[in-house]
Amino acid sequence: MIRLIIIVLIGATLATAPQIEDDWVAVPQPYKEIDLETTPLEIKTNSAIGSGDYVKVLFYSVKSRRAGGFELHFNSTLQYEISECSSYTNFSTNPPADVNKIWRITKTRTSGIRQQIHCNDVEVLNILMSDTTCSSSSWSTFWDRNIRKMYFRFSDSASDFYMSPEGNWVPIRLDIDLEATPLEIKTDSALESEDKANVNFYTSQDVRTGGVYLHFTSTLQYYIDYCITSYTNFPNIPPADVNKMWRISVTRTSGIRLQIHCNDVEVLNILMSNTTCDDITWSAYWNRDIKKIYFDGGENATDYYRPYPVCTGLKTNWTSTMKTTTKFPVDTGTVVEVSCSDDGVTLMGDTKVTCKLGRDFSSLNEPWCSDTLIRRQPDRQTITENKVGTTRTTNNYLGFETGGALLRRQADSQTKLGIKLGQLKCVMEN
Ligand SMILES: *[C@@H]1O[C@H](CO)[C@@H](O)[C@H](O)[C@H]1NC(C)=O
Ligand SMILES: *[C@@H]1O[C@H](CO)[C@@H](O)[C@H](O)[C@H]1NC(C)=O
Ligand SMILES: *[C@@H]1O[C@H](CO)[C@@H](O)[C@H](O)[C@H]1NC(C)=O
Ligand SMILES: *[C@@H]1O[C@H](CO)[C@@H](O)[C@H](O)[C@H]1NC(C)=O
Ligand SMILES: *[C@@H]1O[C@H](CO)[C@@H](O)[C@H](O)[C@H]1NC(C)=O
Repeated sequence: MIRLIIIVLIGATLATAPQIEDDWVAVPQPYKEIDLETTPLEIKTNSAIGSGDYVKVLFYSVKSRRAGGFELHFNSTLQYEISECSSYTNFSTNPPADVNKIWRITKTRTSGIRQQIHCNDVEVLNILMSDTTCSSSSWSTFWDRNIRKMYFRFSDSASDFYMSPEGNWVPIRLDIDLEATPLEIKTDSALESEDKANVNFYTSQDVRTGGVYLHFTSTLQYYIDYCITSYTNFPNIPPADVNKMWRISVTRTSGIRLQIHCNDVEVLNILMSNTTCDDITWSAYWNRDIKKIYFDGGENATDYYRPYPVCTGLKTNWTSTMKTTTKFPVDTGTVVEVSCSDDGVTLMGDTKVTCKLGRDFSSLNEPWCSDTLIRRQPDRQTITENKVGTTRTTNNYLGFETGGALLRRQADSQTKLGIKLGQLKCVMEN
């Protein structure tokens, strides 16, 4: 006789639910450790000539005193500026025309302070700093200091990566798709601390799109770059808790709407327009899709960030066979009903799945669609055992059809058969 043992594997589903803490990412230090005295600085850009983009990097000593800096302007010609020395100047040698550029900045002190700049390995500048080559007489106060830190100013629209002392290309902006998911940031700054949270938005191509700044002064104030460009009190006062989670959402269903929640209280909700924005260039910036963020060097309030945990759609391996009438995105905890896309197909497993933290769905029994559970054999009897969607025959045949492959075994021999289907494991013993 045949015994059929059905084991439902639920443990694995529960164990993979991510912890809330794991979702938060620490905001990178705006000041990056470098040692320009021993190692040249390398920066990658992909800005076109004439784009108007800038590289703007400031150097600091170990004690955070200003130690010079360097700027590039992708004007109709490429121009450079050495901070505290010269203003924008044409290069002595034209940089290569390639759009993708690696800039190497070398500072040496063998006889005086020398600056060399290479672009894609072509030397485009080599100057010995002096009162003649620098138009500013105070250049040596700054450039004499050993350069141990740098930061990219938020108006730097061109630098995409820099080389870390460990030899890795580090992206300057962080990938987060604000078109799909709001941004959440965590602060623990008190009122009157004068701390600032500055988050700047960019497109996938590193073009500025806007930004939101918060100021913890005697009241909590906000500033919306390219829209509301003076610090303003929130229309709804944020909750008094020191630990705050801010949710910044940009939606585009009818016009461009910016919403800010603080600990789930809506503190701002504006539809951008020539009336609500004081900066009339707002639409040029805010119309661009936000795919990256940058916490700039003036920022000292944001500790952590994450994409707000919503579900943006069904799991990708469900969508070929399953559908839902739910409109995405949905918040964590939302129950979504699924059904099979094709007629005459049976939905196995759960019909309702729950959006869980981490933008995934949890289900006890992974849903799946089966087009033929069993080929009925006219000469054989079929018994259907249904709780977990498995069928068996009494007459030596066990049939499953998944993805077109019919698995069939005659079971009156000594065959043992194990089949794993999603979360179902069927073992048939003779
Ligand atoms: C480069 O841009 C600046 C404005 O930042 C402008 O003053 C200057 O004339 C431009 N130079 C060239 C060569 O286009
Ligand atoms: C820089 O080069 C451009 C193109 O050759 C030229 O038109 C411009 O006058 C130069 N600017 C300076 C300050 O020399
Ligand atoms: C943050 O920066 C502001 C100046 O922008 C300063 O007044 C404040 O003390 C700083 N806060 C911390 C924690 O360093
Ligand atoms: C808003 O202002 C800009 C700049 O003045 C103008 O080009 C645009 O047409 C205005 N939009 C509306 C809807 O009035
Ligand atoms: C979908 O993928 C998950 C994880 O990769 C897997 O556990 C599950 O069995 C798959 N479901 C279907 C219906 O293929």
